[in-house]
Amino acid sequence: MTTTDPTTFGFSSTAEDVTAGVSLAGKTVVVTGCNSGIGMETTRVLALRGAHVIGTARTEEKAREALRALGIDGTPLACELSEPRSAAATARAIVGLGKAIDAIVCNAGIMALPAREVKHGHELQLLTNHIGHFTLVTRVLPALAERGRVVVVSSGAHMNAPKGGIAFDDLTLAASYQPWTAYGQSKLANILFARSLARRLPSGQTANALHPGVIKTNLTRHIGDEIFSRIDPKSLKTVEQGAATQTLLAAHPSVAAVTGVYFADCQPKEPSRYAQDDALAERLWHESERIVERLLA
Ligand SMILES: NC(=O)c1ccc[n+]([C@@H]2O[C@H](COP(=O)([O-])OP(=O)(O)OC[C@H]3O[C@@H](n4cnc5c(N)ncnc54)[C@H](OP(=O)(O)O)[C@@H]3O)[C@@H](O)[C@H]2O)c1
Repeated sequence: MTTTDPTTFGFSSTAEDVTAGVSLAGKTVVVTGCNSGIGMETTRVLALRGAHVIGTARTEEKAREALRALGIDGTPLACELSEPRSAAATARAIVGLGKAIDAIVCNAGIMALPAREVKHGHELQLLTNHIGHFTLVTRVLPALAERGRVVVVSSGAHMNAPKGGIAFDDLTLAASYQPWTAYGQSKLANILFARSLARRLPSGQTANALHPGVIKTNLTRHIGDEIFSRIDPKSLKTVEQGAATQTLLAAHPSVAAVTGVYFADCQPKEPSRYAQDDALAERLWHESERIVERLLA
């Protein structure tokens, strides 16, 4: 297997760049949110390198249409992350395929809902971005390959999490809802989940989190594209560049043994203080287990 030098990967690298020379023939990977943005590009490039991609979207129809549009012979599955029963059913379907899962890219997400939305008693960004993926991943673990990788797409916006990191006393942020605080809490939860998971996985399996960069995608559907006019164009990534860090973590041999780490621009990066707090990560893990148990009861 020939690979390009991972130390040279950075802001401008694309998902194709970071997998040049990497063969994923015989590998099976899961990508959530395969029908849009950087998830769709991740799906395309992992398949281009030979992986069988299990692509999930809110509906099976959306997932099938995305794979068809990409010309990929993958497996489309429904996974509505704000419905824990759907995420659990997706996990059962994945395990039922009987294939070892080499990587699962927890990519789907929503951002900065202008008004507080609560579903099943939970704030919708935390429910979708974190609880949905927690439900899915913890139930797919029995099928994770011996050297399987869990890749959790977080955001630099995890820095906007509320005081204390996770507002356990007011998890739905009823008293202080702010769109970016709520998104930040959910994205901090993504990093803490990867951190806790890394501690639990047997040697060989890995879990990492990442910030993909700032990319013009459908993610701004709730706040409008106007936000991009306030961002220095030089700090924007293309979709191809935005998909690079998660594709690297899912596929590149150089990070096969790296675990419990946060990446940005295809390199390790120190996240916020809260994101490095193991006690916070453990508390979130146990709270998430309780939440999922109640929601699936
Ligand atoms: N774009 C950025 O600048 C940026 C920056 C930092 C982090 N991120 C993170 O990158 C990830 C991908 O975002 P993107 O920029 O590619 O955005 P995107 O184009 O909006 O894609 C998001 C994906 O998530 C799916 N999704 C949303 N809610 C869902 C739900 N309840 N159940 C299942 N799937 C759901 C969407 O499905 P539908 O199309 O059906 O809605 C879509 O496939 C997100 O986790 C985001 O937080 C992005």
